Amino acid sequence: MAANSVTIRREGGIHTWVLNRPDKLNALNKDVFDDLARVIDLVETDSSARVVIIMGAGDKAFSVGADLKERQGMNEKDVLVRLEFVRQLFRRLELLSVPTIAAINGIALGGGLELALCCDFRLAAAEVTLGFPEVELGIIPGAGGTQRLARIIGTARALETIMLARRLSAQEAWQVGIVHSVCGDLSASVRKVATRLLDMGPISLKQVKSAIKRGVELGLDEGLKLEIECYKPCLYSSDRKEGLKAFAEKRKAEFTG
Ligand code: COA
Repeated sequence: MAANSVTIRREGGIHTWVLNRPDKLNALNKDVFDDLARVIDLVETDSSARVVIIMGAGDKAFSVGADLKERQGMNEKDVLVRLEFVRQLFRRLELLSVPTIAAINGIALGGGLELALCCDFRLAAAEVTLGFPEVELGIIPGAGGTQRLARIIGTARALETIMLARRLSAQEAWQVGIVHSVCGDLSASVRKVATRLLDMGPISLKQVKSAIKRGVELGLDEGLKLEIECYKPCLYSSDRKEGLKAFAEKRKAEFTG
């Protein structure tokens, strides 16, 4: 990866992506987005990848969002083209077949928080600040933030958070439901979730994710139809047979996916 704006560590099925511009608080510029597209490609084609963790380099930031200095040199058309790229990129991340964990190790603002909202799990270090400053800058969150935040925490809280550009502490973000947990030892907590996910059937995790993330947009009857469609790949998998066999033999299942 030429720019190394996102680095990858791979360890036993766990891929850790590090947003790597610590001197700019991991602001998201073109290089970061291009690298994110490449690491998404990698995971989509690597059958050994089982969990993705995303974090920021350095000890200050997860990501402070769009690179505002880069934006200054962009005209309106450039911005729209960029936003379309990022919106598709974030949608791919959201629908990635493996579970994703945002390890919010530092400040997460704007696009940085939008990125985290695409992940299945959001774990935050106790001292971090999160928020959407966009309206202070005369814009709105444009990479899915308005839509995903409202779906995650509800309309009333999303309006308050974004319209007042609130900076939330990790504890406040947990109270409203933006983060799943506030961690004294973030890396230990993230590792615990990741290793727990490694115990699960990979096909099951993929299908659960699809059933919930796609189903939530449907009416109940359509959603129930989707659920049974998502059940079927599990039904015909060797993992299901292994799960039943392991239960009968009182041992941990060894899933192959
Ligand atoms: N885009 C580009 N560069 C950014 C940035 C952003 N969004 N946020 C911070 N940086 C850069 C700063 O310009 C600075 O670089 P420099 O040393 O070359 O000047 C470096 O990161 C450190 O930032 P600094 O502001 O000095 O750190 P701080 O600890 O005093 O303040 C923040 C941290 C996050 C409060 C402050 O940087 C900030 O408000 N950033 C903007 C965040 C934002 O509005 N994001 C939403 C974008 S839609």
